[in-house]
Amino acid sequence: MSELLSFPKGFVWGGATAAFQIEGAWNEDGKSESIWDRFCRTPGKVANGDTGDMACDHYHRFPDDIRMMQELGLQAYRFSIAWPRILPDGRGRVNQAGLDFYSRLVDGLLEAGITPFATLYHWDLPQILQDAGGWPSRATAEAFVEYADVVTRHLGDRVKNWMTHNEPWCIAFLSHQIGEHAPGHQNWNEAIRAAHHVLLSHGWAVPVIRRNSPDAEVGIVLNFTHASAASASQPDQNATRWFDGYFNRWFLDPVYGRRYPADMVEDYTAAGHLPSGMDFVQPGDMEAIAVPTDFLAVNYYTRAILRDEEAADNLPQTIVSSGEETAMGWEIYPDGLYQLLCRLHFAYHIPKIYIAENGCAYSDGPGDDGKVRDERRISYLRRHFAAAQRAIQAGSPVEGYFVWSLMDNFEWAKGYDERFGLVWVDFETQQRIPKESAAWYSGVIGQNGIDA
Ligand code: FCB
Repeated sequence: MSELLSFPKGFVWGGATAAFQIEGAWNEDGKSESIWDRFCRTPGKVANGDTGDMACDHYHRFPDDIRMMQELGLQAYRFSIAWPRILPDGRGRVNQAGLDFYSRLVDGLLEAGITPFATLYHWDLPQILQDAGGWPSRATAEAFVEYADVVTRHLGDRVKNWMTHNEPWCIAFLSHQIGEHAPGHQNWNEAIRAAHHVLLSHGWAVPVIRRNSPDAEVGIVLNFTHASAASASQPDQNATRWFDGYFNRWFLDPVYGRRYPADMVEDYTAAGHLPSGMDFVQPGDMEAIAVPTDFLAVNYYTRAILRDEEAADNLPQTIVSSGEETAMGWEIYPDGLYQLLCRLHFAYHIPKIYIAENGCAYSDGPGDDGKVRDERRISYLRRHFAAAQRAIQAGSPVEGYFVWSLMDNFEWAKGYDERFGLVWVDFETQQRIPKESAAWYSGVIGQNGIDA
């Protein structure tokens, strides 16, 4: 008999999605345009010119999707709310039809015995707020608090788990410095300002959410990429410190009261990214950002191996890679999850952690018999679950795990090319077929553990 690697009693197993990636109904019932609606219509930005207009049509099919989750045995469901459905003008006027949609979704989940975890912002900013300056502008942080207030006043009686933002690194840097995501800008200073206003809006929103949603737990979702040095050389070590600062510490440190990392402020200044210094940080901001929360939600997919290209002592063969990658080209590195969860526990003393996203893209589709055999996904998940279990054994307070994603969906700049789902979706017919990984995951949930 194989041994069972068990998870703690009460461990929460779920699936995750985001509004723009699954809902479709992009202009229905009073919803306004989001920055992703606009970005999809900007030539060259999204693979194949794909859009979120229809996506998984979840807006209309959510009762069936809830039944599907129930059949899979999911205990919890992480979804996001589309700001442009709730406040079509960004602020002010409330669109009741938008609130009603999420209210029906939440009621349906609760009736099915599935605990809702709602993310307030998963990237679909109302375009009207982008036109007024977007996240680089402080006014957007103020607007977010208004939006969070409206949503939690209406759903806070039933939703007891709130996540303010999904992946501030992506909102700030991927979208304003690298330019791969909406609004597609390439400007370091904008990105650093955006990061500050996203974090600030989190800090401001937490007390508002607590007021509106008694007994609720609130947290933020940060994404982490484990940073490994390609060699022990000083330049590689420095590149690794820099990457960890840019990707991980820039967000983690201020949220946990350590302010922005001084080494990064110095590096950004030297690189000319802060021509007027940190003038966007106003008195009280850092205290607001460090507001106590109930949990940290962690998204983890891969690692980066850092090599300083200019270092002479630094040959390409020093790069250690498992050689195994998912369809996204992301290295499979479960040990990075273990190390991250231990670091969050030992170095940051975080009281409670959820893994809000972990998963992989593979294109496997239905075979002749209609079955989707995605053994590689099972293998990926098994190894990452084992890494999380090992971190829990080491003392890391991980209390739940959400697989990204419940179903194949709109994968941002990659359009529909990348399939992360436990459930396969035919985007022509909207047929859903649970993959073999879904059946395997049901088994994991059932026994609250994995076979070693
Ligand atoms: C994360 C996003 C999520 C999904 C996965 C693959 O960065 O939060 O929406 O696209 O990556």
